Amino acid sequence: MPRQYHHLTPEDRAHFLEHGWLRVPSSIKKKYIDAWLSDMWVRLGMDENDKTTWNTEYLKLPRHREEKAEEVCPEAWEKMCELVGGEEMVDPVRERYYGDQFIVNFGTEELARSKAKVDYHALPGWHCDNDWYRSFVDSSNNALTVILCFTDIPASGGGTALAEDSLKMWCETLFANPAGFDPPYDKQLYSDIIAKCTKFSQIEAKAGDVFITHSFLLHTQTPNFLNYARVIANPHVNLREPYNLNRSNGDYTLCEQIILNSLGHPAGIPISLYNQTRPRAVYYPNSSWAKRERIPGELARMLADAKRRGLGPDSVDSVYLKGDEALKEHEWRNGYDKAAGPGGLGLGGAMINGTGVPYGENHVVDVKKLTSAS
Ligand SMILES: [Fe+2]
Repeated sequence: MPRQYHHLTPEDRAHFLEHGWLRVPSSIKKKYIDAWLSDMWVRLGMDENDKTTWNTEYLKLPRHREEKAEEVCPEAWEKMCELVGGEEMVDPVRERYYGDQFIVNFGTEELARSKAKVDYHALPGWHCDNDWYRSFVDSSNNALTVILCFTDIPASGGGTALAEDSLKMWCETLFANPAGFDPPYDKQLYSDIIAKCTKFSQIEAKAGDVFITHSFLLHTQTPNFLNYARVIANPHVNLREPYNLNRSNGDYTLCEQIILNSLGHPAGIPISLYNQTRPRAVYYPNSSWAKRERIPGELARMLADAKRRGLGPDSVDSVYLKGDEALKEHEWRNGYDKAAGPGGLGLGGAMINGTGVPYGENHVVDVKKLTSAS
């Protein structure tokens, strides 16, 4: 029997196949928006009401809390599962929990004063979220890049830009490179594609909306011309097995069908055309290092804030204060137990450690010291 869809409408399916993304309005439960945003400014070390304390334009935070994906955004989760062929296709561990690893785009006063418009071709940082594995055309380590919107995102408010016609070109690039690509990726690969793109979309949202994008869709941040704190998080859906791009019954998942359509083989890629030449590989997520460097500072501020309010360390909700077992699971779910890839970690242009040392060990937080200081 062909695939049945109970949560994706015919319009959802057509939109995803044509554009590579899907919007699910009001899907994040309000209790998580409220709870996770409640101490964001404490974590940031900034004053929400005093923009002189907003000392950066853009910041990525680590994760302190996480809940199962279907608990955070139930309707979006059901649709995500159908896009990949069912929940049984989803990796039961990796990124099965979504959390408060916020990405805050503050904009600047200068941007707000300017009357500039986004020039999509000139934006830096176009990429796919694939910094923790070797990428092949059938790699499903990341099948879906998800954008959880924790605040409204008005027009010109720093919503993520999506290059819709990049998806086809990235599929073609992957297909033409059977040795795969390791992170950090050569930025030229992406800029060559973006130079040829003509079909851009930019996210506008209400708090609670979820955008689901095919992981091969190139995207990037845009300037926030409104100088407010735009807050999103970017979890993913990882699959257990690589995509099957040669199904004998032709009944492909929507994620697979997009790839096949892009390659001009909608009925499947003949085995003779696909000859992957290197093994698959999974690494520590390249971009997580910088986020996790913030943990001790954030925890110290969260604990100090609790103390100021007459509360003890127990009142602070963070996986880093929940003991070794909880932390171990968190590390496991997020790939922090993996070693860095052969290219090391690219941080602001500097490479550190390409020798394969597990990075999780470098982010052990001295909880005793922090709690006794608070
Ligand atoms: Fe991204």
